[in-house]
Amino acid sequence: MTTKKIENVEYGLEKIFDGAQDFLPLLGTDYVEFYVGNAKQAAHYYKTAFGFQSLAYSGLETGNREAASYVLVQNKIRIVLTTALNSNSHIGEHVKKHGDGVKVNALWVEDARKSFEETVKRGAKPFMEPKVEKDENGEVVRAGIYAPYGETIHMFVERKNYNGVFLPGYVKWNSDYNPSPVGFKFVDHMVANTDWDRMNVAMKWYEDVMGFVNFLSFDDKQITTEYSALMSKVMSNGNGRIKYPINEPAKGKKKSQIEEYIDFYEGEGVQHLALATDDIITTVGQLKARGVEFLPPPPQAYYDEIPKRLGVHKDMMKEDLKKLQELSILVDADEDGYLLQIFTKPLEDRPTLFFEIIQRMGATGFGAGNFKALFESIEREQALRGTL
Ligand code: FE2
Repeated sequence: MTTKKIENVEYGLEKIFDGAQDFLPLLGTDYVEFYVGNAKQAAHYYKTAFGFQSLAYSGLETGNREAASYVLVQNKIRIVLTTALNSNSHIGEHVKKHGDGVKVNALWVEDARKSFEETVKRGAKPFMEPKVEKDENGEVVRAGIYAPYGETIHMFVERKNYNGVFLPGYVKWNSDYNPSPVGFKFVDHMVANTDWDRMNVAMKWYEDVMGFVNFLSFDDKQITTEYSALMSKVMSNGNGRIKYPINEPAKGKKKSQIEEYIDFYEGEGVQHLALATDDIITTVGQLKARGVEFLPPPPQAYYDEIPKRLGVHKDMMKEDLKKLQELSILVDADEDGYLLQIFTKPLEDRPTLFFEIIQRMGATGFGAGNFKALFESIEREQALRGTL
């Protein structure tokens, strides 16, 4: 497999993977839909805490008797928060079992029918046959397949003949309450947690069904602390815009954070969404001021070692190390450059879904050099929850 890198104004640095198949061209992440217990309150939280903007709404007022959905946007990121309006609903069942979590990872495509046909032909389990939805702004074609883990869905969205605010059935959501954005640009990657011996099954599915390539792998010796371990493989589509790391627990002295997730989510699912910014210091400063909680900082020794870890990229770093330490931002480097990242605490009471904030300065990795420091932070939190 050979790769070449290109600079993309909208999606940052991309890698082109020659080994990937082109039967499923993906233009980017279209939206991420969360099923939640109370969408109205969740929308307020994601606006206030994370600076998402009100975009669209569907609910009783728009003739939707089954569910209410609030669509929020920040640059290229669209999240949809959906809740059931009655007890007889697959949305309510999902929330009862999993708590709040990601149900749909929607992919923006040129041709939703072809995306559905090609993936189903290669073994995908259908979730929704291609469906044309229309209103006065045009039409959208959507089709869905089950992802290879848990109850998660991939929805293909073809919107080239649509000019509306989001999808047919939604109205523009005009709100008087508009907290300012925090600088999120696009979804950098989305991570799945799978059960024991399931990572390679999911990986093979992305290869066979979606034509992705496995471009990075971490074994349990690389991702280990004194207490616990996990393994991870990163899958990417051909243009590098869609990246899905897949985790699996590994044996350790105590319980892996992946097992804790699976216990509380009651199954496999999305562990985190990584949101890209090009100014992490400002973004994280604002998030902290708005009450977002992050994992506790690594010890001083971690920051003392950063110049060594940056190696040849040491002089390239523009950010003030003291400022990064003040905000508990982590730093890692690979052969291509460096990256800055930080992880929130879980976004709900069950220790399941969280956000990562990431700023890439040339680096195309996932912060492998931070895994140990990060997992020790997570374990300190697990110990407080009594789940280590
Ligand atoms: Fe990540």
